[in-house]
Amino acid sequence: MIVESENDIKHLKAIGHICAMTLKKMMESAKPGMTTGELDDIGLKFLEKEGARSAPMAMYHFPGATCISVSPIIAHGIPGDRVMREGDLINIDVSAEMNGYYGDTGASMVLAKHVPEYEKMLAAARSALEKAVSVARAGNPLNLIGKTIQEEAKQHGYGVIFDLTGHGIGHKLHEEPTEVFNYFKPKDDRILTEGLVLAIEPFLTTGKGHVHEERDGWSLRTIDRTIAAQFEHTVIVTKDEPIILTKNPPFLSIFFNPKGDKESQRKKL
Ligand code: CO
Ligand code: CO
Repeated sequence: MIVESENDIKHLKAIGHICAMTLKKMMESAKPGMTTGELDDIGLKFLEKEGARSAPMAMYHFPGATCISVSPIIAHGIPGDRVMREGDLINIDVSAEMNGYYGDTGASMVLAKHVPEYEKMLAAARSALEKAVSVARAGNPLNLIGKTIQEEAKQHGYGVIFDLTGHGIGHKLHEEPTEVFNYFKPKDDRILTEGLVLAIEPFLTTGKGHVHEERDGWSLRTIDRTIAAQFEHTVIVTKDEPIILTKNPPFLSIFFNPKGDKESQRKKL
């Protein structure tokens, strides 16, 4: 959507904040031995308490309130009986609606253990999101977002997932522009306009970047069974730096959850 009033901004900020807080709550609550279903329940209760509705449930009848993907699943993982273990690479994606406005945010983390191989990719994916957000300005070509993500990934020795994209958002979870590519599309001549609401979500990988859907009809893994990490923000494009609606400084610094000790979870980059 294109923001048209202060009222639009107010509602987008409200749902963006709820998504960010839900994600933070879930990342902090994830513990070895817990099932993804139990973690989803924590997210669902938090959303309900705030008066928001799970977007994937409401819009797509997704069998969960949030997407919880444990490697080798990289996205759209269905919460359920899967027990999370120390050293698991996990992605949590929260999207929700309130008063007709949608927000969408996501993050990957390593559970309760240092895994340098994963942490290096998480740092690169986070940096790709930050850089991509910083170029999302009115007047810039939309394909600068993908170019920036791909360059940042390459700089750190990673590729991007070609089959998963960011998207327009606002009055629906997915709307125009339907594909905000995570790679450079030279022929894409779309220009970013003031007030455009976007979900920007780089997925970095050690592999070739194509995904396969599992038999459950939702879960995605890479075809070459390589690992991937995603970070996502919903933003409003302005002439200057965009307004980040899902901003939550503590959550973005928590991508490693050692033992539920909040201080030691904060790793500076
Ligand atoms: Co998302
Ligand atoms: Co999204």
